[in-house]
Amino acid sequence: MNCLILRIILCTMVQATAIACSNIAFIKYWGNRDATLRLPLNNSISMNLDSATTTTTVAFDPALDDDVVVIGDQVAQGRHRARVVAHLERVRALARIATRARVHSRNNFPMGAGIASSASAFAALSLAATRAAGLELSERELSMLARQGSGSACRSIPGGFVEWYAGSTSAESYAVQLAPPSFWDLRDVIAVVSTTEKSVGSTDGHAAALSSHFFAERLAALPARLARVRHALAARDLPALGIASEEDAIELHLIAMTSRPPIFYWSPGTVRVIQAVQCWRAEGLAVYFTLDAGPNVHLLCHARDADTVVARVREIPEVLQVIVNAPGGAARLVDEHLF
Ligand code: PMV
Repeated sequence: MNCLILRIILCTMVQATAIACSNIAFIKYWGNRDATLRLPLNNSISMNLDSATTTTTVAFDPALDDDVVVIGDQVAQGRHRARVVAHLERVRALARIATRARVHSRNNFPMGAGIASSASAFAALSLAATRAAGLELSERELSMLARQGSGSACRSIPGGFVEWYAGSTSAESYAVQLAPPSFWDLRDVIAVVSTTEKSVGSTDGHAAALSSHFFAERLAALPARLARVRHALAARDLPALGIASEEDAIELHLIAMTSRPPIFYWSPGTVRVIQAVQCWRAEGLAVYFTLDAGPNVHLLCHARDADTVVARVREIPEVLQVIVNAPGGAARLVDEHLF
């Protein structure tokens, strides 16, 4: 091949763009066995959220002296940029390249407010960056890679209902699909009561979790709760799934509140929504709540009840925004690029 053509091929930026869904965990990931590799202490089970997505375009560009990271319309700085650059380093190591990259990323939901933006962000980044670097990873390899950017991101690689095997080594810790999105027409109605970024990120929350007196009890209780959630999913049993999810969410926040120093993610709106859910259920509406590490409340219900749940949630003065999610698909490549 002539030298000029080779140079043109090497210098051509190859863009790749991926879309990934956020996910809501029924059984939460909270606490690591290995914080650097993000190896969790327990399996977790989640559903992808079809209306809470991140779109990310990556191009490795030989003309760049440094990585350029744009999140939303802002050039990212500080810890947000550092986390993306660290992930690009993992991809460069896999692809054996040194080329710097341009990354543009956009969420269609508020960042850092209990809707796991890091899950969809690192899932989309893993798929877009590996493709832009010329790699074609398997679903399992992508899930392992995404996990190292943000633990819960590994669950946003497969579609639908997903279990993350904790494993005890990096190669054993990845997520698999339990059921496709079409398996169950469940809804997650997110009641957004705050859009400000939380003061304690989940990375610090995981580290603090082990200082709670209740953490060992949680780990002991989890195998039975995981089995209940697997059975509830297989049987499409909303009350069983909902009760187990509520137990697990309350337990995560109990552990956060009893960590040293304590972490409070709830706001007055969080309690208002939880109490409203308890009233509606007492009146016969099949609706259950869960929470991530933030103040917003996720309401689980059947698709046929979603309009009723949305209408009632909108009547609560603290609720700023409502996002309705059906089970979402796997992380995927698309042809429309952000730059
Ligand atoms: O992936 P991280 O480090 O942001 O942790 C997510 C932790 C929770 O959202 C609170 C629970 C979960 O399993 O998604």
